[in-house]
Amino acid sequence: MVVGAGMLSAFSLASAQAAAKKGAKPAAPADGSKVFATTCVVCHQLDGAGKEQLYPPLAGSEWVQGDENKLIRIILGGLTGPVEVAGESFNGAMPGWGPVLEDKDIAAVATYIRSSWGNKAAPITTAKVTAIRSAMSSRKVPWTIAELSQVKD
Ligand code: HEC
Repeated sequence: MVVGAGMLSAFSLASAQAAAKKGAKPAAPADGSKVFATTCVVCHQLDGAGKEQLYPPLAGSEWVQGDENKLIRIILGGLTGPVEVAGESFNGAMPGWGPVLEDKDIAAVATYIRSSWGNKAAPITTAKVTAIRSAMSSRKVPWTIAELSQVKD
């Protein structure tokens, strides 16, 4: 009996440790899907396809899968004016999400959209988002594609 209980608690400890270890890994896909569902889905849609002429797709987007320095700026600061996405032209405006989302949420949602719907691009770290937020801290208006093309890092 005593031995059985000891074995059981040793097993519980091991599995709790395994679970904690798992939880300590970056939980970007799970958190990112939550941020996406609350903040982005209304326009870009659950399947990331957007809405014709109104909201550009994130699925298959070169902006989502391209240079992280530009993508993070778009999410933090917003985007306005003409943009080509996956061969289609859009000319709308998206507000920046910097004022409403923390750096870790932006990193998580960026990582999520870079690895969903067939997209394949490297994860984005919270540290990178923090660095870019501080680099663009004086900026008050959404980016244009022309301005973003000047961005190096
Ligand atoms: C109110 C609608 C709306 C919401 C909500 C929204 N977006 Fe956008 N988004 C737009 C529009 C409109 C554009 C295109 C702006 C333009 O034409 O210059 C855009 C452009 C983009 C782009 C660049 C173009 C592309 O399709 O790759 C990215 C990346 C992006 N949004 C990500 C996000 C993320 C991440 C969220 C949630 C944190 C979000 N958006 C929430 C409307 C929205």
